[in-house]
Parts: sequence; C-alpha cells; structure tokens
Amino acid sequence: MLIKTKKGLEIPSSEITPKYLYESRRQFMKGVATLAAGSLLAACSPQFGGAGAEEETAVSSDQSTTQSTNTAGKANATADELGDPLNSYQDITNFNNYYEFTQDKQGVASAAAGYQTTPWEVEISGMVNNPGVFGVEDLLSQFDQEERVYRLRCVEGWSMVIPWNGFPLRKLLELVEPTSTAKYVRFETVYDPDNMPGQKSPWFTWPYVEGLTVDEAMNDLTLLATGLYGEQLLPQNGAPIRLVVPWKYGFKNIKSIVKIELTDTQPTSLWMEAAPNEYGFYANVNPNVDHPRWSQATERRIGELSRRPTLMFNGYEEQVANLYEGIDLQENF
Ligand code: MTE
Repeated sequence: MLIKTKKGLEIPSSEITPKYLYESRRQFMKGVATLAAGSLLAACSPQFGGAGAEEETAVSSDQSTTQSTNTAGKANATADELGDPLNSYQDITNFNNYYEFTQDKQGVASAAAGYQTTPWEVEISGMVNNPGVFGVEDLLSQFDQEERVYRLRCVEGWSMVIPWNGFPLRKLLELVEPTSTAKYVRFETVYDPDNMPGQKSPWFTWPYVEGLTVDEAMNDLTLLATGLYGEQLLPQNGAPIRLVVPWKYGFKNIKSIVKIELTDTQPTSLWMEAAPNEYGFYANVNPNVDHPRWSQATERRIGELSRRPTLMFNGYEEQVANLYEGIDLQENF
C-alpha cells in the first residue's frame, strides 16, 4: 500500500539548496535543457539531488528510513575539535549520496539494505613494489582501528560531523611501497550493475573512480574508513571500506573500494568525466571558489537551521595547506 508520509529526516530543499537557486529553479531548468547531457547530469548538485527536492514522498508502508539503523553505535567523542557536536547516527546513515543505488538521498539506506559486503577484497596494483589482493578482514586485523571525528562538506552545500573508525591510508601504502615514479593514487568502487541499479544509468561512466596525489594519500588525515560510531559501516555509507579525505568535497570520499592503483597519470574521476567544468581533480573545500552554479561560501550543517561560513580546506588548513604551496587553487579546483 502506498501512503503519503513525511520521512524521518526532514530536510526541505530550501535548506539544502541556496535560496536563490531554489527560487529560480524553474527558470534554471529551462536554461539547462539546452546544455549538453554531461553538464546537465552534473548530478551531485542540489538541483538534481533527488530527495533534497522532495519534502514529502510516497513510500510503501513497510519501508522505514530507520531500516538497519536501529542500533545507534557509540563514539568516544561528542564533538569535533572546533566544538561542534557530532551528527546523529540516524542522520549519518539516512541522508546519503550513493548514485550506484539511487539519487534519492533519503532512499539510499533502504535501496542499499542487504547489499553483500562480505567477503570483500581490495586489489592494490600499479607502481608499487608489493602489489597484492587484501581481504578487508585481514586489513582490519593488521591495522589498529582509530576513531577520527571529521567534518564532511558536500559540494552541494550541506555538511555533517562524523565519528569514523578506520586506519590511515598511509599505513596500507607503506605496506605496498609505492615506487618513486608513482605520483597519483586511483580508487575504484565495485562494479555490480545487477545489484546496483544506478550503474545501469548511461549518464555516468561506471564504476565510480576517484583519485589523490600520493602526497595527499600519505597525509595523516586521509583515512580508509571501515566503521562509524563504533559500528561496522552500513552499505549506504560505503561498506565495507571507503575513503575519507576531510579537507575535500564529499564526492572525493569514494565508497565500497575494490581497486587501488598507483600511477604516474592523473586519474579522471567519474565527476570530472561527467562535468569537467564543474568538478576538478583537487576538489578542495574552498569558500573562495564558487561552483559554476552556486556559491561555496556557506553551508548548512544537517540538524541546524541557518547556514554557517564554509572554512578553507574545511577547517584543516593547518594540516594540509602545505600540500598546495605554489598551486593556483582557482585554476586547480
Ligand atoms: N562513492 C560512490 N561510489 N558513489 C557515490 O555516489 N557519492 C559521494 C561520496 N562517495 C558517492 C561516493 C558524495 S557526492 C558524497 S557527499 C559522499 O559519498 C557521501 O557520503 P555519505 O553518504 O557516507 O555521507
């Protein structure tokens, strides 16, 4: 039976989308109709973001946004280092971007529920002395799991504070030993269109790909996350292993990784391929560089009503600014 209901997490589009864009949406849609498919489908944006545009949605009565998330885990911290409180487990596991399943942020949890993430292997190849295939279980026993409380700032203009569990990517890279010729790390999400309906969409080049420079990957902040709130990651958050790079826009945080390749060529990410004028390789959070279609100066923290200023490098300037010395951040967006 279909019922008209408000979902548990009510985030009206007016709060996610900058007001001027929200109000001029109809006019905007007329304009984009003339654009090429690639930029039209720059879908990691509030206008095309699915659930953000739907405050009320018809869902079947046996579905629940709290599916698989009834047990909120435990975090040691209660706030980030700036004093802002953690977002709830409920928020973090029910408002997601995972285009392989659906573009409806509040529908990802149910669309991904039951997705099989064990057993799982990650292949590390390319310019390394010790290539190999690593079972996630082995990685979990090999590397101590740390709690890292990071801000996640989506390019769409919303943010959360998340207590991740995981280990620095650096530790895994030290194990495989990148050669001196390796300059970049390329990551790939699992390709499984039979179980990930979004991968049947012709508008994107699947699988999802992301990349970092080796220096970014070796930075201590860069995490391979396997859990949050002390619980194993749920499918909607990129189980069993995903990247977390807190000074970059959320789309760099690639989920459900199966391949990591060290290379001397800058990887082309899914978003760079889909809309190169909108999504660059670096994607550092930068309030001074607007997205071509909206300002990046402010953001809305999920759970708050008003917008707050976006911080340079998402507040991690001290730890990462040195990576970009001499680089024009306006050009290298
Ligand atoms: N990884 C894959 N494979 N597919 C995606 O659609 N979305 C990205 C990123 N990683 C995405 C992905 C975007 S746009 C964001 S904001 C974050 O995941 C959201 O992570 P979360 O759902 O855990 O909050």
